Amino acid sequence: MAMSSSSLLIFFSLLCFSISSALAANVTYDHRSLIIDGRRRLIISTSIHYPRSVPEMWPRLVAMAKDGGADAIETYVFWNGHEPSPGNYYFEDRFDLVKFVEIVRDAGMYLLLRIGPFVAAEWNFGGVPVWLHYVPGTVFRTDNKNFKFYMEKFLTLIVDMMKQRRFFASQGGPIILSQVENEYGDIETVYGEGGKPYAMWAANMALSKNIGVPWIMCQQYDAPGPVINTCNSFYCDQFTPNSLDKPKIWTENWPGWFKTFGSRNPHRPPEDIAFAVARFFQKGGSLQNYYMYHGGTNFGRTSGGPFITTSYDYDAPIDEYGLARLPKWAHLKELHKSIKLCESTMLFGMSTLLHLGHQQEANVYTDSSGNCVAFLANIDEVNDKLVDFQNRSYHLPAWSVSILPDCKNEAFNTAKIRSQTSMVDMVPENLQATMKSPSKFSGDLRWDIFMEKAGIWEEPDFVKETLVDHINTTKDSTDYLWYTTSLHVDEREDFLYAGSKGRLILESKGHAVHAFINQELQGSASGNGTVSPFKLETPITLKAGKNEIALLSMTVGLQNAGPFFEWVGAGLTSVKISGFRNGTVDLTSAVWSYKVGLEGEHKGVYNIDGSSKVKWISMSEPPRYKPLTWYKTVIDAPKGAEPVGLDMNHMGKGQAWLNGKAIGRYWPRKGPRHGCPASCNYRGKFFPDKCNNGCGEPTQRWYHVPRSWFQPSGNILVIFEEKGGDPTKIALSRRRVTGVCGLVSENYPSIDLESWDRGVKFEDGTKASIHLKCPERTQISSVRFASFGNPSGICGSYIQGSCHYPHSASVVEKACLNKNECVVSLSEAKFVTTELCDGVTKTLAIEAACD
Ligand SMILES: *[C@@H]1O[C@H](CO)[C@@H](O)[C@H](O)[C@H]1NC(C)=O
Ligand SMILES: *[C@@H]1O[C@H](CO)[C@@H](O)[C@H](O)[C@H]1NC(C)=O
Ligand SMILES: *[C@@H]1O[C@H](CO)[C@@H](O)[C@H](O)[C@H]1NC(C)=O
Ligand SMILES: *[C@@H]1O[C@H](CO)[C@@H](O)[C@H](O)[C@H]1NC(C)=O
Ligand SMILES: *[C@@H]1O[C@H](CO)[C@@H](O)[C@H](O)[C@H]1NC(C)=O
Repeated sequence: MAMSSSSLLIFFSLLCFSISSALAANVTYDHRSLIIDGRRRLIISTSIHYPRSVPEMWPRLVAMAKDGGADAIETYVFWNGHEPSPGNYYFEDRFDLVKFVEIVRDAGMYLLLRIGPFVAAEWNFGGVPVWLHYVPGTVFRTDNKNFKFYMEKFLTLIVDMMKQRRFFASQGGPIILSQVENEYGDIETVYGEGGKPYAMWAANMALSKNIGVPWIMCQQYDAPGPVINTCNSFYCDQFTPNSLDKPKIWTENWPGWFKTFGSRNPHRPPEDIAFAVARFFQKGGSLQNYYMYHGGTNFGRTSGGPFITTSYDYDAPIDEYGLARLPKWAHLKELHKSIKLCESTMLFGMSTLLHLGHQQEANVYTDSSGNCVAFLANIDEVNDKLVDFQNRSYHLPAWSVSILPDCKNEAFNTAKIRSQTSMVDMVPENLQATMKSPSKFSGDLRWDIFMEKAGIWEEPDFVKETLVDHINTTKDSTDYLWYTTSLHVDEREDFLYAGSKGRLILESKGHAVHAFINQELQGSASGNGTVSPFKLETPITLKAGKNEIALLSMTVGLQNAGPFFEWVGAGLTSVKISGFRNGTVDLTSAVWSYKVGLEGEHKGVYNIDGSSKVKWISMSEPPRYKPLTWYKTVIDAPKGAEPVGLDMNHMGKGQAWLNGKAIGRYWPRKGPRHGCPASCNYRGKFFPDKCNNGCGEPTQRWYHVPRSWFQPSGNILVIFEEKGGDPTKIALSRRRVTGVCGLVSENYPSIDLESWDRGVKFEDGTKASIHLKCPERTQISSVRFASFGNPSGICGSYIQGSCHYPHSASVVEKACLNKNECVVSLSEAKFVTTELCDGVTKTLAIEAACD
């Protein structure tokens, strides 16, 4: 067989590849860390959930995690996405788990596979299929025969699928750890006698699958035998595993928090996340995972809840749209690099604890080759401190850790952010601009409209003289359930004449309701992320004779956690009308006719196929503020390549689809007006409400539509609006970085970690610098703020201080204007020669626009 040299090369590289990929890694552990192929390892892991983005985004997200200094990707496995009905499996598109694992493997990264298969995860029903609740005799997550049968069946299916592809490290694949169950230890005792036997069964069942890599159980204090119990929290430095021979692993470090419709926007400051991670490794931690590193989107009806938003941004280092969130992403990247510089000394050296002050301490690691690593911590929540360590002085801001990979030079301090901040905007493009004209003869834009009837369409599904549970009835095949009845009103009733005195009073277990009488919307109400049940009391208009009462009850994501979560119900429990001559009429036990779902849903009008099953009315001006309306229009893709979000600020509540793909639930419900601090102090323990913003604004205004869902033109956008909105104000917004900022001080680390990696030696006296970079193909078009002196404030609102070098702007402009990126150092000749404000620690702050 003849071979050209190039094909020979390919042949040999294929050969090498297959040899190396077939080389099984032996993953074990000791008290200090995981041991992969005989080597202890410190591991930075990052959660990216495959169904919360699209396959087209996966390679880039994984590459960004690797570039951000991660060794591993972590994902849950989403059972209800994979087994929509018993024995009927789905592993395609966003649920193509095999493809996702291949992408991680091909990027040269490890994978932590948290199978669960109960996962919570703010995911619908915690990931367990709703149908399983209706298999008679089933109780979830306890010593229950049915649950254990189905759980083992699914877990085995996943394990076998991974084995078949040789995905476990023991087979040469990327999976180094696998998880069974999820945070069960926190509620084990609530399950009484069934709790502990179930947890032990889950552990032993998992072990029996012989995957060749360790199993973990998070928040499972009694994880037996070789199963490693791990920590989930904002801080895990104080965590210790349940046995002296298990390593300290942090499965969930929350770099932000999730949102519910009607809540404020939580943020966790990068200084505090970095502090928590540095403390964890300082105190002997060996594997840390960010939950989430990219949160992504709860497309369609996948969000849990109730009330979890469609966005699962999580304030993560990579934002929902796939852009690096700066400075968070880059600050953590520097942290990871600094920790990696310490890896072998920390893993093989001896650790000594030194007290440097009342609330200041150092952990010093030294190894037999004379290497020395130190973590200097100041856990004082208020005061910065100067500490002496090995004859040098170090400035430690309050609530910070400095990392000294050689016990001398400060490579990183968790509170000194050197990376730039990006200013991100949603730049609107009115929908009209992308809508297609129906013909070249008419300039009219076209909207197709289909109105749902307020009540039973076609025949009722059933009739009952009682109010039924919503979830038991829909089994989550849809969010919607119609409760309808009729009421005869005598023509002598007062309220028919003396204005509206009739009142509808209803109570529901959750989650939301729109009340219609005689096809007119009378009122809406809903619970919230804290309290699911709610009451609606609203004046109503009745007529003499027969009145049609139609109540549209809705779920907004099913319960995803908590003991016995699958038994939490929803739907109406009481319906009354007051104001009659004879008092209040109680309709709770009236004759109710029920219909599961909407006609448009049932016929799939958001799909090409279903669209023809109903009669659409074509109009150039769509109706506005009309409840129960389906809108359909044809649009072009927004120009450019930036990610796209649908601006639904002027719509009411409903769902949206593009080209038949479910974007998700939209609801620009506003957050409380109060509870947002004017500024966020990163110092001190974080809690989810600590640094909220967005008070009085919609919790979620923009809805991510992946670029890959668009064709260049002819895209069908379908919207179902429940209560009324203005579709002419819908905009497709492009997510763009419009500006960049930087702020560094003289006492910030000046060491370039890349050069440290290459073994370059450092001299005292180099100074910190600001590195600014605009997105590709854009330039720094203006310098909006520049001050060398003692400026303060945050990006977007820096203010000049009492000390200011008057030519700061011209120095910065000279270095940066009309460039894609630039570096301005505090050692710039101009700055150095300036005799400026003696005794002041100099700071440089810059804000620049990108165009
Ligand atoms: C895997 O490594 C452990 C210790 O690190 C060792 O005891 C064991 O024999 C190794 N197993 C294999 C299959 O190489
Ligand atoms: C610190 O200084 C003292 C006194 O000069 C000296 O004995 C000691 O070796 C120094 N320590 C280090 C770590 O340089
Ligand atoms: C009160 O009046 C309403 C409407 O006229 C009627 O439907 C209902 O049966 C009456 N209830 C009682 C308790 O008489
Ligand atoms: C949720 O609703 C309850 C009851 O109406 C209310 O007390 C609470 O403040 C609401 N929470 C939020 C975050 O709006
Ligand atoms: C749903 O139906 C089941 C079976 O009939 C019943 O046990 C359960 O209590 C119902 N749930 C609710 C919330 O009503």
